Amino acid sequence: MIDINKAIESLNWNKEPRGLYEPIEYALAAGGKRIRPTLALIAADTIVNGGLINGDAIEQTLPAALALEVFHNFTLLHDDVMDKAPIRRGQPTVHVKWNENTAILSGDQMLIEAYKLLSGVPDDKLPQVLKWFNEMATGVCEGQQLDVDFEHMSQVSIEDYMHMIELKTSVLLANAMRIGGYIAGATPVQQEALYQYGLHIGLAFQIQDDTLDVYGDPKTFGKAIGGDICANKKTFLLLTALETADAESKAELLGWLMANDRNEEKIAAVTAIYNRLGVRQAAEVTMEEHTALALAQLDKLPQNAATESLRLLAEQLANRKS
Ligand code: IPE
Ligand code: IPE
Ligand code: MG
Ligand code: MG
Ligand code: MG
Repeated sequence: MIDINKAIESLNWNKEPRGLYEPIEYALAAGGKRIRPTLALIAADTIVNGGLINGDAIEQTLPAALALEVFHNFTLLHDDVMDKAPIRRGQPTVHVKWNENTAILSGDQMLIEAYKLLSGVPDDKLPQVLKWFNEMATGVCEGQQLDVDFEHMSQVSIEDYMHMIELKTSVLLANAMRIGGYIAGATPVQQEALYQYGLHIGLAFQIQDDTLDVYGDPKTFGKAIGGDICANKKTFLLLTALETADAESKAELLGWLMANDRNEEKIAAVTAIYNRLGVRQAAEVTMEEHTALALAQLDKLPQNAATESLRLLAEQLANRKS
């Protein structure tokens, strides 16, 4: 199996001007779970081992896998500006270590670098991969806009939220699966199963991210706890709390949504309301539902060690701590 961390390390950022490339190197060296390129590679592995269509297919997936990870890291540079996040992967975010202009421009260059990597996809596969990659990239931007719009909206339903996270998070995981499988020769039915698997683990993944933003250990999570509460993000936890609260808890919660200058107090108070209403348990139930929907897709794929890894991964991601 390809070592994705080594492949990322071997990208060359030793270029001028340093002000542009050093933050890119910093962001990509900080690690992270590398889940998106891993999904692309395992999807390819599942297909290749299901009926050896093309022995080189896994290697051929690498440029797209790298493009997906560089694209993801680009979104994080801009997301951290938008969310005013101070810490990521246990280190200062780019806009804090340098400044906002740096996060914007180095982020822009990462998007370009992602497309340069993507151009390494075999010629016969490139038109379709490019189409899916573009659809994915637009989806992420649309989802990010909805995420920001929702901060200032009082009437957001769980359905609105699921649509927003499908765009900002799931379409990237879903397309990582589909692109990896397609390059390895997946049939249309297999492509769709890979996509749906990615979509459902993506939904569970974002609900877990929302949960860790409140209940995570900053040492393993690598991000500041309570950022979503401070920013009035319409997370699964907040929307479930607003939907299930009695009149008194709801009034208290709405009061805290107006308090934007008492962060520490606000995090503690909102967390206490969440605890009282048991919204974390509701999040777990929804995560389990989507994990089950993802797992059901795997029956449509060849059954081999890689498919088994996808089974394990779906379960691990919904229970992750980082
Ligand atoms: C963070 O993604 C953004 C979300 C979609 C929640 P990851 O949790 O995959 O971040 P890294 O790459 O592992 O740091
Ligand atoms: C992640 O949403 C979506 C994208 C980065 C596109 P979050 O804002 O919740 O991600 P984190 O928690 O900052 O990683
Ligand atoms: Mg964020
Ligand atoms: Mg965000
Ligand atoms: Mg988050």
